Amino acid sequence: MKIALKMAKWFAIVLVGLLLIAQFVRPARTNPPVDESQTIQARTQMTPEVAAIFDRSCRDCHSNKTVWPWYTNVAPISWFIANHVNEGRHSLNLSEWGRLDRDKQDRKLRQICDEIQDGVMPLSSYTPLHPGSTLSEEDKKTLCAWTDAERQRQSAK
Ligand code: HEC
Repeated sequence: MKIALKMAKWFAIVLVGLLLIAQFVRPARTNPPVDESQTIQARTQMTPEVAAIFDRSCRDCHSNKTVWPWYTNVAPISWFIANHVNEGRHSLNLSEWGRLDRDKQDRKLRQICDEIQDGVMPLSSYTPLHPGSTLSEEDKKTLCAWTDAERQRQSAK
């Protein structure tokens, strides 16, 4: 019993030590500048409902307007989150929509609807800490109706 307690104590000390050292590895929490004329809001005919869904469920990982709460400063959570934001921006950046060519925009619009219908987006690690970010069936319908309409509008041009 005494040995178990001693070991638990040492384990705790080592763990705290490692966590302290981990704090020195700080991933960059960037928000690159936004050219408002290139955003998906500016480049598409977006309804306020759709804009609101993107804002509350997607913006933090898929735009350059990420809100970084205090816990995004704390390792190892910070590593995990910065990685999600980097990968998220890389695969879909709503702030840099205008940089995509037409085919790519079309593919991204389709993917947006696919990912939310499959329940893959927003990521399940995100929703518990962001009340209101989970999409209702109504939200999904609104978003997919919009991506469909937007794709048609683009192809009719
Ligand atoms: C917590 C961060 C996070 C949130 C919130 C989030 N995403 Fe993502 N998203 C990612 C990451 C990371 C990837 C890239 C890796 C992957 O495909 O799983 C991604 C990929 C995607 C892709 C590209 C898929 C592909 O096949 O290339 C689409 C489209 C997408 N997300 C849409 C959305 C939409 C729409 C929302 C809001 C309803 C959303 N995401 C919310 C992190 C997030």
